[in-house]
Amino acid sequence: MPRVTPQAVPIEVRDLVKRYGDLVAVDHVDLTVEAGDVFGYLGPNGAGKTTSLRMMLGLIRPSEGEVRLFGRDPQLSVKALEGVAGFVEAPSFYPYLSGRENLRLFAALDGGEAAERIEESLGIVGLADRAKDRVGGYSHGMRQRLGIAAALLRKPRLLMLDEPATGLDPGGMRDMRDLIRELSAGGMTVLLSSHLLAEVEELCNRVAIVRSGRIAYQGSLADLRAQAGEGYLLRTGDEDRARAVTAAQPGLDEVEATAEGIRFGARDESSVGALSQALVEAGAPILELSRRHATLEDLFFSLTEGDKVVEARREPRADAAAERATAEAR
Ligand SMILES: Nc1ncnc2c1ncn2[C@@H]1O[C@H](COP(=O)(O)OP(=O)(O)O)[C@@H](O)[C@H]1O
Ligand SMILES: [Mg+2]
Repeated sequence: MPRVTPQAVPIEVRDLVKRYGDLVAVDHVDLTVEAGDVFGYLGPNGAGKTTSLRMMLGLIRPSEGEVRLFGRDPQLSVKALEGVAGFVEAPSFYPYLSGRENLRLFAALDGGEAAERIEESLGIVGLADRAKDRVGGYSHGMRQRLGIAAALLRKPRLLMLDEPATGLDPGGMRDMRDLIRELSAGGMTVLLSSHLLAEVEELCNRVAIVRSGRIAYQGSLADLRAQAGEGYLLRTGDEDRARAVTAAQPGLDEVEATAEGIRFGARDESSVGALSQALVEAGAPILELSRRHATLEDLFFSLTEGDKVVEARREPRADAAAERATAEAR
């Protein structure tokens, strides 16, 4: 085994696949999470996020491919999970025990110095005041935070969280974001999954966008925005005439009539200036002429809405199965 240096990459995933029968839940995923990242694993429900995290945490075996946490395979060595903590879906606790008592049980399992970190962990997640209360009476947000407190007992360098803000009210979401930011500022690398773009947008420096088990984009959100480029929106009192003028204007391209107005791209601003003059001369009064960035929301949907295509592709298979069944019945 190669010696692992502390500088080893927190998460490296290569060609990871998980199949359940015919279903490919995780489809050749490559992922690199660098030290200090708050990495967002973003995708709609059913995209394969939880399944990926389960493999990363060594909870289930990949069908193909490999995971390395700080250079170690979580399937092969318990050591790989040193300095790593997290949970998938909801953390589980004994409802009739208090938050503190639950953490004592976790600490007893973890051993080492975990027990000494109980009070500190409760403080970090903001549960010190409620630690003596039964977990059965906790809100969803408090349970999520207790789950993070349990993870912190291991003093992790890498924390993996599966949809930590899902199901929280806006206040709870904000608290969760603040907590994750605080942990990150303290030097922890964090990977979190989410189906909510807004959650990831505010928190994560890098993202992977997953669709039907596959990575559709990986990188920074700033780069994603830049890739989408920008365009202009024009609304006038005479759409038909304006469209003709815009299409004829040198330096403009991708002229398209939309419900909002006419959208177009421009190679430089002077072409846009020339357009406004041409519109006035043509007698098409300008109601609005503005620069528009594609919103991340637009990009996210364009990257993830391909699920429909996959569904459509499934149908022939169902037909084939039906045909086979009919053939067998004959
Ligand atoms: N244990 C399992 N057996 C069969 N199918 C599963 C199992 N776990 C997950 N799946 C399927 O794999 C796909 C991805 O699921 P999941 O990883 O839970 O997605 P996400 O967390 O992104 O919502 C889904 O179609 C789900 O039904
Ligand atoms: Mg999930």
